[in-house]
Amino acid sequence: MSQRTLVLLKPDAVRRGLVGEIIGRIERKAGWSIAAMELRTLDRATLEQHYAEHEGRPFYEPLMEFMASGPSVVMVVEGERVIEGIRALAGPTDPIAAAPGSVRGDFGTIVRENLIHASDSEESAEREMKIFFPAFS
Ligand code: PPS
Repeated sequence: MSQRTLVLLKPDAVRRGLVGEIIGRIERKAGWSIAAMELRTLDRATLEQHYAEHEGRPFYEPLMEFMASGPSVVMVVEGERVIEGIRALAGPTDPIAAAPGSVRGDFGTIVRENLIHASDSEESAEREMKIFFPAFS
C-alpha cells in the first residue's frame, strides 16, 4: 500500500550535519522516494498548527522554541507503508529508549532534540502535508 507522509528533519539534525545520513537511510528503503523537500526555518504560526494537539503540555513551549531555533528540512516521502516505516526508522520519542539502528537510537540522547518528526497516521499525514505544502496534492 503506497502512502505519503510528512517528515521533518529537526534543527538539531541540520546543525549537526546529519541530514545526508538520515535522507540516505530513507532513500535506501526499497521503493521509497522524496516527493517534496525544502530547507525552511519554521515560524510560530506554522508550528502552532502542527503541534496544536500538544498545546498546554509541559514540553510544548520548549518544543516550539527548539523547532524555531534554526532551519529544518521539510519533506514529503512516499512509498510502501511509509507512515509506519518512517516511524520505525526514527525510533521512539526518547532517544535513550530507542534501539541502536534507528535514527534516534544512533544519534540522540535528549528527548527535545530527537532529530526527526514523522506523521503517526494517514489522517495526521494528510493534515500535516497541507500545513507544510499547501499547494502539494
Ligand atoms: S504523545 O503523548 O505520545 O502524543 O507525545 P509524543 O508523541 O511522545 O510527543 C509529542 C511531540 O512532543 C515532543 N516532545 C518533547 N519535546 C521537547 N521536550 C520534551 N520533553 C518532549 N517530549 C515530547 C516529541 O518529540 C513529539 O514531537 P514530534 O515532532 O512529533 O517528534
